[in-house]
Amino acid sequence: MLKSLLIKIVFLLPFIGLSQDLLINTGNRNTTTLNGTWHYIVDPYETGYYNYRYEAFDQLEKDDLAAFYFNYHPSSKIERVESDFDKSPTLLVPGDWNSQEDKLFYYEGTIWYKRSFDYQLSNTSNRLFLYFGAINYKAEVYLNGKKLGVHEGGFTPFNFEVTSVVKPKDNYLVVKVDNKRFKDAVPTLNTDWWNYGGITRDVKLIEESSTFIQDYKIQLKKDVKNTIAGFIKLNNATGNEKVTISIPELKINQSFSADSNGNVQFELKSKKINYWSPSSPKLYDVYIKTAHQTLKDEIGFRTIKTDGPDILLNGKSIFLRGICIHEENAMRGGRAYSEADALVSLTWAKELGCNYVRLAHYPHNEHIVKLADKMGIMVWEEIPVYWTVNFSNEKTLNNAKNQLAEAITRDKNRASIIIWSMANETPISEPRNTFLKELIQHTKSMDATRLISAALEKHNKDGVNIVDDEIGKYMDIVAFNQYTGWYGGSLEDAPEAKWSIKYNKPVVISEFGGGALQGLHGTIKERWTEEYQEYLYQQNLKMIERIPNIRGTSPWILNDFRSPKRVLPVIQDGWNRKGLISNNGIKKKAFFTVKEFYKKMQQQYK
Ligand code: GCU
Repeated sequence: MLKSLLIKIVFLLPFIGLSQDLLINTGNRNTTTLNGTWHYIVDPYETGYYNYRYEAFDQLEKDDLAAFYFNYHPSSKIERVESDFDKSPTLLVPGDWNSQEDKLFYYEGTIWYKRSFDYQLSNTSNRLFLYFGAINYKAEVYLNGKKLGVHEGGFTPFNFEVTSVVKPKDNYLVVKVDNKRFKDAVPTLNTDWWNYGGITRDVKLIEESSTFIQDYKIQLKKDVKNTIAGFIKLNNATGNEKVTISIPELKINQSFSADSNGNVQFELKSKKINYWSPSSPKLYDVYIKTAHQTLKDEIGFRTIKTDGPDILLNGKSIFLRGICIHEENAMRGGRAYSEADALVSLTWAKELGCNYVRLAHYPHNEHIVKLADKMGIMVWEEIPVYWTVNFSNEKTLNNAKNQLAEAITRDKNRASIIIWSMANETPISEPRNTFLKELIQHTKSMDATRLISAALEKHNKDGVNIVDDEIGKYMDIVAFNQYTGWYGGSLEDAPEAKWSIKYNKPVVISEFGGGALQGLHGTIKERWTEEYQEYLYQQNLKMIERIPNIRGTSPWILNDFRSPKRVLPVIQDGWNRKGLISNNGIKKKAFFTVKEFYKKMQQQYK
């Protein structure tokens, strides 16, 4: 017993010093941006991290000023110092390094970032936090030479308290970013998307009073239309703090006393709720007030559940008219990170006739989910448990769980998010099933009000498409990717395809499609032409309409996107060409095929 506990602790050690409790809704807090130009040093040999005996500087007893995080400058002409951030080039933050510097286009490894800043607390008893929207992949963060901590996972936020480290003047923030891929990581070595490295999302300082509202959940109680329920979590509570929740439009203004840990559990009744839906994306101004702070959020209330083959939004059966999106601004050819980037993608999705998007294959930035709330677009959010993740490795499982926790913590108040996805196209095995079951449990322990799914495995036997993936039992929605006429199967026979789906649950085709080089024309028999792609969609949509319990689709994919796996000259040149829109923003013929189909579905599910 003691031995296994010790083993466990040894396993978890790397996670201690990980980011602290996540602050949510940072957009409505007292923040100071650190976005902008940061100096950087490319360090493939990690010279700024290890000494020549390959010992990590920050593990040594004695400080060694050769470590880059000391940002050390020679104090005399004779002193030997072999790095200087201030004379080094700069990169924009937020942003990936690959699309900013040609010589970094394929770079995978360590790059050090440095940003200097001054900061005066507005009140000496206040506290200060450093918040990162995301850094791909592993971040080691130092402020004024002190290590704040480590974060692993390229697509979720994290923060550190810096109250005791920050100075009024000349702070130097140094971040070691390493986007090297490795087997036990999440995602693992092999993905069909570009491994953009860098400080890819917003960086901000957040000033809070000594006791403050750290986290909360304010959503409809599961399957109860007139009850808003959830929790408020205060940080550094002294006990009995008064917390008031007010929703003026619903004439709700109720106070609660926090317990000694600063927690409030609540239920608020209202018969006047105007429910959030794509046709009426109603968001309410919600205020959480304490003696020190008022935090505002814009929250929609809707119920989402399944009933046999149906997906019920506010009790009404819906069809998910979707599209898959990667977090990339195709025209810029780099990671998307802003509200403007999100608006480009979601506006195209609306134009296509979508009421739903699958954000593939990792949590995208907060701007796009907040915009989906406003624009009335339902969202499938996923963590990058993609293809052959190392399912038998406990560290990998904890990493996946941590990414799930950070994504759910950040987005649990977004009405637009209806599905948490655990994985994509993961090969069936016992360790895989155990791994995914753990993730499902973890999800339900944090948020049981949304649907759970994943892109499941399927196979074909004697001409029948069979979906009997064991893990489907634990999913609310049976989803799978189907590439008929691209990775196999005949387009001519597609409309007559036969199906055997084990579960009486809603079925969603989480991906289907094929590639085309925009502007390349020919016959429907010539792959890579727009005509081939158009015909592929026509035939697949006929097939999909006839799939038992079909309740949604999200074609692969809105835009052509960068992938190091796509090397066919002239046609691909580093781009996956399955977009309905090219990387120059030009719509392909198939875009209009899907648009037609969605018009029909909209009629059918009026
Ligand atoms: C897979 C996978 C995608 C990939 C796509 C493709 O199913 O989920 O990430 O890009 O197919 O092959 O284009």
